[in-house]
Amino acid sequence: MTQLVVRSGRTLRGCMRVPGDKSIAHRALLLGALADGPSHFSGFPASGDCQATLECIRDMGVHVGEPREGSLVVHGQGLCGLQAPTRPLNCQRSGTTMRLLAGIMAGQRFAATLTGSSQLLRRPMRRIIEPLQQMGAEIESRAGHGPLTIRGRPLQGHVHYLCIASAQVKSALLLAGLYADAPTTVHQPGPARDHTERMLATMGAAIQTSGLTVSIRPTAVLRPFSLRIPGDFSSAAFALVAAVLAPRSELAIQGVGVNPTRTGLLESLAEMGAEVHLEQCRDVADEPVADLTVRTADLRAISVRGERVVRMIDELPVLAVAATQARGTTVVRDAAELRVKETDRIANVVSELRALGAQIEPLEDGFVVTGPTALRATRVDSHGDHRLAMALSIAGLIAQGDVVVENVQCIDDSFPGFVRWMREIGADYG
Ligand code: S3P
Repeated sequence: MTQLVVRSGRTLRGCMRVPGDKSIAHRALLLGALADGPSHFSGFPASGDCQATLECIRDMGVHVGEPREGSLVVHGQGLCGLQAPTRPLNCQRSGTTMRLLAGIMAGQRFAATLTGSSQLLRRPMRRIIEPLQQMGAEIESRAGHGPLTIRGRPLQGHVHYLCIASAQVKSALLLAGLYADAPTTVHQPGPARDHTERMLATMGAAIQTSGLTVSIRPTAVLRPFSLRIPGDFSSAAFALVAAVLAPRSELAIQGVGVNPTRTGLLESLAEMGAEVHLEQCRDVADEPVADLTVRTADLRAISVRGERVVRMIDELPVLAVAATQARGTTVVRDAAELRVKETDRIANVVSELRALGAQIEPLEDGFVVTGPTALRATRVDSHGDHRLAMALSIAGLIAQGDVVVENVQCIDDSFPGFVRWMREIGADYG
């Protein structure tokens, strides 16, 4: 399917689960590959990005069974057990795969090239290349972009002061730190998602977090582990906003990861006047999980900036959709990172929501939306960006007529089954 025809006016109701968390699944594969023995995972998402990570570790001799109904076993080879790949490692469209793998590759005893789609090769890699080089890594790039050729070398511990709050950069440095000769410390400017730290601690690594500072000591052995991967909050976010906007709707989503470094959207929705209730809060392998319920609400505009932006960076496109229906002017700032995601999400959210009739202005580091506005029937384009494709598919639910969203195949990068899932709760997707 390359386009989606969205009809508006439907009520959304149901009780569902979303696919497993993409960020946690990448880390489960990579750290499982480095563990001393087999790790068992369930709830593994069929997302294209995670499949890329899976193929990369297989290319280095790690046996991973085919996922069966989301369950798989990663036969870890130990920290020094990866084998030199015989072809470039294809990270496809996944920035997390390329950046986290770069940290691991820096400390190996062999060379590897990390490549991927043209979309991935346009994304900035200097943010990991330079700090990894400060640890002694040998990395060749194309002017700060992939493909990256990394010749593994002995690494030195280092104290890093990051200028961007990025979990991918932090994780690359912590993974390299496993192989260094002395502790590695990362000072972050904001609370980037901490799944790597939590998983490393579960596996017995000597890792410590104090505020925004994380330190890891070189490690000899990582223990294998078992994990039921929680539902992806970033996927649930689309359904939550859909239920808030669609008429007379009420939705429950079970087993969703609610790690506070990911849930800035919940606070933003609450400020806008929509309550998402968290029930059955529990911990699964040191990750907080809850069942979420939400219903239709009238929204008011808010201002989002600072550390909240870091904790909802992937949810800003769908927040922009919600803001078109909120009373007043919503302002999002401090979100310049949106410009270097899968696409320039500021430029593309603005152009596509404008096509739908929204009043939205770009800022260098965010956007300003004035609402409420009735959205009109038209044709919009995802620009090959999965989160934009889903955000536009939600906008179509409240437009005055049919909205056609072009280029929706990229949704599979993070939420395969999105269209089926939305239909099951009542969306009319052609
Ligand atoms: C991710 C980190 C975030 C996020 C991306 C997944 C991760 O990127 O936008 O979708 O799994 O570490 P940055 O680390 O570049 O902020």
